[in-house]
Amino acid sequence: MSTQLEKIQELIAKREQARLGGGQKAIDKQHERGKYTARERIAQLLDEGSFEELDMFVTHRCHNFGQEKKSFLGDGVVTGYGTVEGRLVYVFAQDFTVFGGSLSETMALKICKIMDLAMEMGAPVIGLNDSGGARIQEGINALAGYAEIFQRNILASGVIPQISAILGPCAGGAVYSPALTDFTIMAKGISYMFLTGPKVVKTVTGEDVTQEDLGGASIHASKSGVAHFAAEDGEEAIKIVRKLLSYIPSNNLEDAPATECTDPIDRTEDLLNEIVPESPNRPYDMYQVIGAIVDNGEFLEVQRDYARNIIIGFARFNGRSVGIVANQPKVLAGVLDSNASRKGARFVRFCDAFNIPLVTLVDVPGFLPGTGQEYNGVILHGAKLLYAYGEATVPKVTVTLRKSYGGSHIVMSCKQLRGDMNYAWPSAEIAVMGGAGAVEVLYAKEAKTAEDPKALLAEKEKEYNDLFCNPYNAAKYGYIDDVIEPRNTRFRVIRALQQLATKRVTNPAKKHGNIPL
Ligand code: HXC
Repeated sequence: MSTQLEKIQELIAKREQARLGGGQKAIDKQHERGKYTARERIAQLLDEGSFEELDMFVTHRCHNFGQEKKSFLGDGVVTGYGTVEGRLVYVFAQDFTVFGGSLSETMALKICKIMDLAMEMGAPVIGLNDSGGARIQEGINALAGYAEIFQRNILASGVIPQISAILGPCAGGAVYSPALTDFTIMAKGISYMFLTGPKVVKTVTGEDVTQEDLGGASIHASKSGVAHFAAEDGEEAIKIVRKLLSYIPSNNLEDAPATECTDPIDRTEDLLNEIVPESPNRPYDMYQVIGAIVDNGEFLEVQRDYARNIIIGFARFNGRSVGIVANQPKVLAGVLDSNASRKGARFVRFCDAFNIPLVTLVDVPGFLPGTGQEYNGVILHGAKLLYAYGEATVPKVTVTLRKSYGGSHIVMSCKQLRGDMNYAWPSAEIAVMGGAGAVEVLYAKEAKTAEDPKALLAEKEKEYNDLFCNPYNAAKYGYIDDVIEPRNTRFRVIRALQQLATKRVTNPAKKHGNIPL
């Protein structure tokens, strides 16, 4: 019989062994790859000293392929809870030093345990992913483990925030769970996401492709839209997780944390009175508008490099978190297309699910026409954004800066989609379509027989513009609540949000809607 002291020493030794994961050699290899270990990452994520680890002594139960001879305390994932800026979060960090972080049955149990706790406590789950997917030796048990995690991801969606940082090569099931979460952050140079790696791709399709080109951070941040952020490295990826958390509530029943506002709420910005160019065809930079109106110019942009014709992200007005959706006249004239619609729609739904008010800045000439878009299903994708705005019950403040035409006018949080406060700048043009296009349709016949068709069309275009291309026609019907001086936009938006803070609107009871997917 060992003494109490010996028992305690045994515990300490076991803990030390568990902290080594797959062993010092594997840790060194992880560092050589430019990656941190699971525990190092958790230390970067959480407030110092706040981590409480669970299930440190769990081991796998597999007896196939001699696995019983290879076992590591804690198996391939470190799990537990801690705080970020004092707020409770649950975390799991896959440990690549143990079987490449591949998912075993017991690893899944560990992850599910903290997901269940997070749901009961109403706290975010952060996944730090670095995994080769299902542990091949475990076969169907590993698959079942993934399915258990996916099911929890699905039920937790819209209840607690779920954030995934991808910090290594992630394959198979290791990418589907992040895809079900709210935000995916990748790190350049070390993280990859693909359903099947380059070797399988070569075997099945004959295509030669590198990990980077198949599923690197830049590809997923710019081409596929799978990643919401592409950090420069793993440390920055984790910093982004912390920053993101500062804008969002811990669960769907709470509000996002309020911060003290050091930026005067009545700050005016003369620059805004001059930012819209005289010519309707000349662009300006919507980032300048956002920077000028939000608290301290701070904006956490989401999906910066994907569908850049629409801008989405988090900011604060008077210390309260908002989601900003804005057309970007500098990219494709701010037109809406399939990708921009999908990008906007998912963001609007996230904000709505987590009680984050929406501020929409409109300068949109319409939907992008053509076969490219039609074949791609722009009807369905555009409908997603329409659906998302119409479904959203959070406070919605819309400011129309310049163009707001046709279907895109409706989609971008118009009054009839339950926009709460819809403002317009004097430069706003709210109409079915632009003047030039409209007169081409209306006066095609007359132009053919006119002595001077150009003069006729110019005259009619002026008539059309005088009638429609201004905010007052919409304001006349109450579709615009007020026409505001651009320099006062910050104050007017803050006032509107203050007024709307107690808004309570519910949608009809139903199992769930049928958003066009
Ligand atoms: C068991 C695995 C593993 C896995 C990696 N390892 N993936 N062990 N099951 N899925 C082990 C390796 O054998 C190796 O062990 C160690 O982890 C490190 O892997 P390396 O290959 O040396 O690392 P690297 O060169 O960085 O390549 C990483 C990788 C590659 C790109 C992830 O390992 C890989 O392609 N793995 C397989 C990916 C895959 O196809 N997974 C199954 C997906 S199916 P040693 O002992 O040598 O150090 C799936 C089903 C769910 O997930 C689908 C749900 C929708």
